[in-house]
Amino acid sequence: MLFSNLRLATMTEGGPYGLIEDGAVLVKDGRIAWTGARKEAPAAQSIDCGGRLLTPGLIDCHTHIVYGGNRAREFEQRLNGVSYAEIAKAGGGILSTVRATRAASEEELLKSASTRLESLLAEGVTTIEIKSGYGLDVETELKMLRVARALGKQHPVDVVTSYLGAHTFPAEYRDDHAAYVDLVCGKALPAVAQARLADAVDAFCEGIAFSVAETEKVFATAQKLGIPIKLHAEQLSNLGGAILAARYGALSVDHIEYLDEDGVVAIAQSGTVAVLLPGAFYYLKEKQHPPVAALRARKVPIAIATDLNPGSSPVHSLLATMNMACVLFGLTPEEALRGVTVNAARALGFKDRGRIAPGMKADLVLWNAERPGDLAYPLGFNPLAAVIRNGEIIRGKL
Ligand code: NIG
Ligand code: FE
Repeated sequence: MLFSNLRLATMTEGGPYGLIEDGAVLVKDGRIAWTGARKEAPAAQSIDCGGRLLTPGLIDCHTHIVYGGNRAREFEQRLNGVSYAEIAKAGGGILSTVRATRAASEEELLKSASTRLESLLAEGVTTIEIKSGYGLDVETELKMLRVARALGKQHPVDVVTSYLGAHTFPAEYRDDHAAYVDLVCGKALPAVAQARLADAVDAFCEGIAFSVAETEKVFATAQKLGIPIKLHAEQLSNLGGAILAARYGALSVDHIEYLDEDGVVAIAQSGTVAVLLPGAFYYLKEKQHPPVAALRARKVPIAIATDLNPGSSPVHSLLATMNMACVLFGLTPEEALRGVTVNAARALGFKDRGRIAPGMKADLVLWNAERPGDLAYPLGFNPLAAVIRNGEIIRGKL
């Protein structure tokens, strides 16, 4: 099938957005077989797309969409002057979601996460990363990861999972952090690996969470098990987690508002992607901006993601996140689109998606838009026309 009469934001190198005017895409067996100018297209059955914009399927590379309960009360508390860290120290924050997630059945988690997932898919997300980390005990972490896998079977989206057992210390280990790290490394992570439930291992390296030394134990275990790593790093302070992550060849370091020059140099050398999460920056009313100029100067690939979670980022829109990355962090609309396509793919270790090029998976989004810069421009408006996944139209019409 030839999709034709398109403006193609291929997101390949060379020119803004890798733009091809009046282009066409040939899809065969779920893959892109050819792409280029319409007048050079190979002969095939063709669909006229009316001159609209085609991009790669969007990739949300950092989410926590599986959880019980909600934290609207804490949103109110924060607006009454209590900080995120204070709420966390008082047993709220992540721990309040842990209580609700432990109490929820697998069916309940699947149902509530499905609703959240649907919001993202309606905007053209075709690949999503989903983290555990609201169970913390072995059983609930496995439950969350099974729910994440089930979401990928029940919805037209590719799901990749990250085990985030080192998200915070559960109440029962409040006074014995070493024992919890032992549980993560000795029991939980091996169980998760055995069940093949984690495509990556993540941790939250922060003053209110895991120290660099504790995080390293988790990384060393992941490395032994052959599972790639990522890290919530330098979100509220600069502990040096990103440098550690770079030493372990991390796929990505995420948040990174407080990342310093040494950290930027380290991740530039390790080829680690910088994942910016403007939703959390916005909700926590953070003042410290991520070091975008330094990341650009060292050519660190920048991805952006919703971080959809009940506490720091109840943001259910990747398009809104693109806009926030532009307005709050000064990314260009092109960087924002690279951030949810080619660079998001790389943050998840994928080589087969995120660009419109021969050999890539035919995950594509057709937009009622003329130019790729139109996508990051509005807030609260969804110009999606159709989604093509593995070469099939799965949403909307052409
Ligand atoms: O990515 N920073 C740590 N973890 C999550 C927040 C989780 C929560 O507040 O429930 C994040 O922002
Ligand atoms: Fe997160």
